[in-house]
Amino acid sequence: MFLLNAGHETTTNLIGNGLHLLLTHADSLRQLQENPQLIATAVEECLRFESSNQLGNRLVVQRTVVRDVVLEPGTYLTLCIGAANRDPDEFADPDRFDIARQPNRHLAFAAGAHACAGMSVARLEGRVAIARAVQRFPSLQLSGEPVRGLRARFRGFTSLPARVA
Ligand code: HEM
Repeated sequence: MFLLNAGHETTTNLIGNGLHLLLTHADSLRQLQENPQLIATAVEECLRFESSNQLGNRLVVQRTVVRDVVLEPGTYLTLCIGAANRDPDEFADPDRFDIARQPNRHLAFAAGAHACAGMSVARLEGRVAIARAVQRFPSLQLSGEPVRGLRARFRGFTSLPARVA
């Protein structure tokens, strides 16, 4: 059940968020259609820019100091993955969607001992689905107002109307 829940909607939202980003960034869409080999870095940028999973949680087990913030044992932390992925100390021009961005050390799959167990299959699914969509349907375009889901943790759309000419 855990594998199914962790792996289903997150990947669906990677594909939806990624297609929406490309359909609203015409230059990037054209760049990808003309350079299909960019699909790997493009998917990493979609993961960074619109992370399907925006929040992570940790319980502090030993006193820890992060910069000037003291974290006492027992503190429950909510980590903002989406904010980390726009950290200007890590990413040049973080609010720019750049499908060729390298390096791209985003935290969409978190990190450490409990980093996402399905990241390889998620990346593969994202690459295949997005690459096939933009190659097979060069005229793909939005055809209505997208509707975002309103949960804080999971970023994605409940509806993304699109059409092929
Ligand atoms: C774009 C798709 C996905 C994203 C953005 C994503 C993101 C994440 C994140 C942020 C975590 C938390 C890691 C932590 O707290 O350190 C996680 C954990 C996990 N994910 Fe994913 N995930 C994705 C797809 C998948 C898929 C396809 C599967 C399985 C087939 C999967 C299985 C898991 C499991 C089992 C964990 C728990 C790992 C652990 O606690 O040791 N995920 N994922």
